[in-house]
Amino acid sequence: MCGIVGYIGYRNVCDVLLDGLKRLEYRGYDSAGIAINDGNEIEIIKEVGKVSDLERIVANVAPKGKQGIGHTRWATHGGVTTVNAHPHSDEYKRFVLAHNGIIENYHELKEALAAEGFTFISQTDTEVIAHLLSKIYDGDMLKALTSLQDQLRGSYALAIMDREDKNHIYCMRKGSPLVLGIGEGESLCASDIPAILPYTRKVMYMDDGEIAQLSSQGIKVWDAKGTPIQKKSFFIDWDLSMAERGGYPHFMLKEIHEQGGVCRSTLKGRISGGSVDLSGELSMDEHTMISFRAVHLIACGTSYYASLIAERIFERWTDLDVKVDIASEYRYRDSKITPDTLVVFVSQSGETADTLAAQRKARACGAYCLAVTNVQGSTLARCCDDVLLLKAGPEIGVAATKTFMGQITALYLLAMYIAKVRGTFPIERESELIDELLQIPYKIETVLEREHLIEELASKFAFSQNFLYLGRGISFPVALEGALKLKEISYIHAEAYAAGEMKHGPIALIDPNVPVVVVAPKDSLYEKTLSNIQEAKARHAPIIAVGFDGDERLASDADHVLCVPPTLEEFSPFVTVVPLQLFAYHVAKKRGCEIDKPRNLAKSVTVE
Ligand code: F6R
Repeated sequence: MCGIVGYIGYRNVCDVLLDGLKRLEYRGYDSAGIAINDGNEIEIIKEVGKVSDLERIVANVAPKGKQGIGHTRWATHGGVTTVNAHPHSDEYKRFVLAHNGIIENYHELKEALAAEGFTFISQTDTEVIAHLLSKIYDGDMLKALTSLQDQLRGSYALAIMDREDKNHIYCMRKGSPLVLGIGEGESLCASDIPAILPYTRKVMYMDDGEIAQLSSQGIKVWDAKGTPIQKKSFFIDWDLSMAERGGYPHFMLKEIHEQGGVCRSTLKGRISGGSVDLSGELSMDEHTMISFRAVHLIACGTSYYASLIAERIFERWTDLDVKVDIASEYRYRDSKITPDTLVVFVSQSGETADTLAAQRKARACGAYCLAVTNVQGSTLARCCDDVLLLKAGPEIGVAATKTFMGQITALYLLAMYIAKVRGTFPIERESELIDELLQIPYKIETVLEREHLIEELASKFAFSQNFLYLGRGISFPVALEGALKLKEISYIHAEAYAAGEMKHGPIALIDPNVPVVVVAPKDSLYEKTLSNIQEAKARHAPIIAVGFDGDERLASDADHVLCVPPTLEEFSPFVTVVPLQLFAYHVAKKRGCEIDKPRNLAKSVTVE
């Protein structure tokens, strides 16, 4: 939800900002802008559309300076217009700022400022901040920013420039992510790491209430009361190539193809002597794990579907009461969250507002909080008692694929580990399960080699208007994820149901124009799934099945089969989800959709 970037140092600031905005474009892409201080004035250039549209205008203006900020927008308050694009400023263009978040009390602030004679040109909540800062400022920026924090309600990550101060950029954060890059003779701030990676891998993550001052000499940070603080820095082990397309036409396709590697890296170092061992990285000890009564898995979107898969695995291998919920529901309902509840928050970004709010609720109830995330220094990781990282590298495509793979890998490891410690793991199957888990990356890669077959099938169905996805047991969440991928990037209506539910309503939708995608691995519910295929066939729906290699019965029952290598019942989601991701990708491509930047979506949903 909006990306901000700021730079101060010796490089051409304009290039750094535009490059940073392109790397953050997945966060919002309806308009973009930059502001550069040339020493006398701050030049603001904004444009509706993509960063490339902005780049064309900037090329004509060629602003020069060593200090600047930029923004790529996902509109909340105010339509998509050049005036509403960021950066925004006060009337005298002295204070110029870029904002990610929502100012909840902007209306009352705006009315009060307007009554005092301030005039507004945009419909945004952000412009209010610039006017308020110009009103409060009395020569001491730190004092002005602490006072500003007191007056703003809502969420913000802010990068702020003062025309009269060429040597500093200021940052503030509450609720929206902001990472600071510590370079040699240069400093940066950005909403996410990829914008910083070309210049430095040494970063600090801002916490709520903090204020930072960036200069070419380094970064100073104060807490909300204005007291200087020393912050821990982190070294990012992602390299730049991970955040680039590397010859693929879309990030999403590259990321789908990285999934074997993601699964392998997430397993690496976590299995020793034929058994899962997370004791080196989790701080929860055996006593704590044994004391748990329940496990709650809390997430949004694709991460929620990964949690639904893990739910079945926790149920199978542990004796815990298992509950899965959508973070935006969990945060408001009366679930029984007790100190002996382990609450696992699953979020690739670690910045999703609803998931963070759910974590605060669980924390207040005294639960043990564990983050399963891809971003080491994310807010979620820093707020939880424990962190289990996916090793997926940066995910740029807005539709999550490889992080889903990383999430299920990490969650399986967690379930195995806890079950083993609690003595509930089916120990007689341990070597069979571990051996198969280690084979999974290769099986994912085998599915990827069959992409051309999936592409062919996608051409046949690219212009269908509705799809129904079905699956039973552990394949039900896979069906949900497959339908979500199709909806998100191709804008085709797709519903997913537990196959047994079809006859309770959705069967009314079936006709020859509604393809039914059935996830049908040969598992203990296979026969029942085949019956559901018959029910759909009887209503003349075209059947696309995902099943195991060599399954002749499925081949004769379905119109089309996307085959995946057979695996154990527990692990089928790792292989069955891949053809569904590729199917969605190729359907969207045939329809000419903007795959990496689907309409209305933003990668990291940092507002409620
Ligand atoms: C779908 C997708 C979203 C995210 C959801 C949660 O492709 O990417 O549904 O899964 O917004 O995001 P995280 O995992 O960052 O909390």
